[in-house]
Amino acid sequence: MPNTILVTYASRTGSTVGVAEAIGKRLTENGLQAAVLPMTEVKDLSLYSAVVAGSAIQDKKWLPEAMTFMHTYRNALLQKPFAAFLVCMTLAMEKGDYRNAVIEWLSPVRALVKPVSEGYFAGVLDISKIPSFSARLNFRISVALGVWTEGDHRDWTAIRSWANNLTSKP
Ligand SMILES: Cc1cc2nc3c(=O)[nH]c(=O)nc-3n(C[C@H](O)[C@H](O)[C@H](O)COP(=O)(O)O)c2cc1C
Repeated sequence: MPNTILVTYASRTGSTVGVAEAIGKRLTENGLQAAVLPMTEVKDLSLYSAVVAGSAIQDKKWLPEAMTFMHTYRNALLQKPFAAFLVCMTLAMEKGDYRNAVIEWLSPVRALVKPVSEGYFAGVLDISKIPSFSARLNFRISVALGVWTEGDHRDWTAIRSWANNLTSKP
């Protein structure tokens, strides 16, 4: 019987990798075995007792490879504890409370496999790492308008606390 928890992620500019690593580290600190892998490198879920999957948000959605992961492994994920998280900039916005909107972005995931727990985390805005010119321009404008600020908005306390709660689930 496998006893390793898979923490798997989809990321474009690296911030979700850090979130997945922090979750894996906390699970290990809590006495569990965890493997942290990009979704594109996962080959066989039978090796794992449970799965924690998370993606960066682009255009209000999990990244395409993250949804491909869900479709590919749906049947296996239905057989084991599954938790999901997202990383986005909306939760780092200076004004307004968009948490309910952000929660909706996991609906396509939920429709495939209902997570035992869901995590919603603010991410990082590093415009220099965004490959597309138009996306860079849009983010520059949004920063100039005061929608959000560039930088690392990850709340490590919230991330570790979510990982702690995972281990208390049956
Ligand atoms: C092209 C693009 C589109 C994005 N779309 C959204 C979005 O719709 N909502 C949001 O809250 N954040 C959005 N973001 C912000 C990212 O989710 C955030 O920067 C996240 O930390 C990126 O994770 P990564 O570094 O793992 O790729 C977008 C970022 C980029 C580059």
